Amino acid sequence: HHEKIELITRNIRTFPDFPVKGINFKDVCPILKEPSALSAVVDLFEEQTKQSFPQVDIIAGIEARGFLFGPLLAQRLGVGFVPVRKKGKLPGPTVSLSYALEYGVDVLEIQEDAVTAGQKVVLIDDLLATGGTMHASCKLLEKHQAEVLGCFVVIKFKDLKGEEKLHDYRVFSLLQC
Ligand code: PRP
Ligand code: MG
Repeated sequence: HHEKIELITRNIRTFPDFPVKGINFKDVCPILKEPSALSAVVDLFEEQTKQSFPQVDIIAGIEARGFLFGPLLAQRLGVGFVPVRKKGKLPGPTVSLSYALEYGVDVLEIQEDAVTAGQKVVLIDDLLATGGTMHASCKLLEKHQAEVLGCFVVIKFKDLKGEEKLHDYRVFSLLQC
């Protein structure tokens, strides 16, 4: 366990002041470039799912960086993957939800047939900052009558209160910063 966490930690880089001043950008690209680190991420998510949410029906990944880990986890578990996308990217009938950003609003969408009523979903993204993106994704799935079992992220910012925003949900992060 500890070794895997170490390996993942070594493969995340921090870029200060990106994309704007004051933001400490956590770059997960090195994880993707190092097969053993990527396997470690999927191993730990797989273990957590089997332990906490063995009844999971589907993995939902949040655009864009949730797409990097979600399908790998879904394959391991032998369940399907569905994308939660930013507005206007998905064809056909969709369900959408708008949510407040620090400045302005954003919209997330899923395809109408992505989940059926009562399906049990685990959400996945690379990181949790304010929690706004993850929270909106949970609400979007619930709007479509899916049940959110839990939320997985690789890394969580402790001081941004993301978990407070997600107090109604079970959140698991591999690392904290
Ligand atoms: C980043 C990150 C999370 C979100 C976390 O995505 O990948 O999805 O922000 O922030 P929050 O907890 O404050 O909502 P971003 O919107 O930069 O887009 P991307 O994943 O498409 O690059
Ligand atoms: Mg993102």
